[in-house]
Amino acid sequence: AHLPAYRHIDGIRTVAVCDINEEAARARAEEFDVPAVYTDWRELLADDRVDAVSVLLPHHLHCEVAVAAAQAGKHVLTEKPMATLLAETDSMIAAADAAGVVLMVGQILRFRPANIRARELIRAGAIGEVRNILRRRLALSGEFRSEWARRPEEAGGWVLYGYGAHEVDMILWLVDGRPETVFAQGRAVNPYWNDMDDITMQLSLVDGPMATYEHSLNTPFGAWECMVIGTEGAMMVESERIRFGDRVVEEPLDSPASWRAQVGEFVRAIREGVEPGPSGRNVRHTMVALEAARISMRDGVAVDASAL
Ligand SMILES: NC(=O)c1ccc[n+]([C@@H]2O[C@H](COP(=O)([O-])OP(=O)(O)OC[C@H]3O[C@@H](n4cnc5c(N)ncnc54)[C@H](O)[C@@H]3O)[C@@H](O)[C@H]2O)c1
Repeated sequence: AHLPAYRHIDGIRTVAVCDINEEAARARAEEFDVPAVYTDWRELLADDRVDAVSVLLPHHLHCEVAVAAAQAGKHVLTEKPMATLLAETDSMIAAADAAGVVLMVGQILRFRPANIRARELIRAGAIGEVRNILRRRLALSGEFRSEWARRPEEAGGWVLYGYGAHEVDMILWLVDGRPETVFAQGRAVNPYWNDMDDITMQLSLVDGPMATYEHSLNTPFGAWECMVIGTEGAMMVESERIRFGDRVVEEPLDSPASWRAQVGEFVRAIREGVEPGPSGRNVRHTMVALEAARISMRDGVAVDASAL
């Protein structure tokens, strides 16, 4: 999704692709008319024509590659999750700061129209002060195209870090929140996933609302929605519409446009020398919540996330 999106940004050229799978790299290069093909990301980072990179790798590689890219003076847009450990997150932020490069995380849901509109409405006071956020994503899902997704040491836990990185980020971003206390429970239901595939998380946000996030890959009907409850009303945010009071606000999803907006934000930050919305520093709050949830599931206790 990044490659076609970059084509729409004036003054940007994709000069190299890298994949350890040479055939895959060559196919991408041909499709998008990219001159250089690498199978070792270190070689790509040594290419002087490269000013910025998108890191679209299995989760456990995000930190190593992002840090090396920053040290090579390249701006970095890494896919979510930013990393799978908070310590890695901090290394990435430190490397980007030291090199003076942009570090952004691909929180694509922040670029979807219904979510943008919901956030605007909340900020404009449409439901008063937010007291509670109830978010859930339910599906019956017994497979994923990539093997690494069900290797916990590479994915970090597919539900928590693959999906939770989106969902928890939405909870925090909708209200510009930071996690205070996190309690999470998980069950490994389908052996295919090798990890927790049903997760429930309770969060309280610093000077903010409480939130509950439920995620299941084992529910025979689908649901993907977020109820935001305030002192003066509530709204239900779905993929393409928002319902609140007797109003229904339609916000059709245009996926390619959201990907263009995301890389557009990255390029804007580089050109203007400003921090992008989902900067490494900003997304760290999401990573704190995920780390706290992981510790909570492991130890069976509520975790003081504000101390992380
Ligand atoms: N934002 C979204 O909606 C969204 C959607 C899908 C994936 N993602 C994220 O994108 C990232 C990649 O996921 P994916 O689904 O594209 O995975 P994928 O398995 O389809 O692609 C990963 C690629 O990395 C290559 N690779 C693995 N190790 C490598 C190495 N050492 N050097 C070079 N190349 C290597 C693999 O050969 C493969 O082509 C993940 O962080 C995932 O969570 C985000």
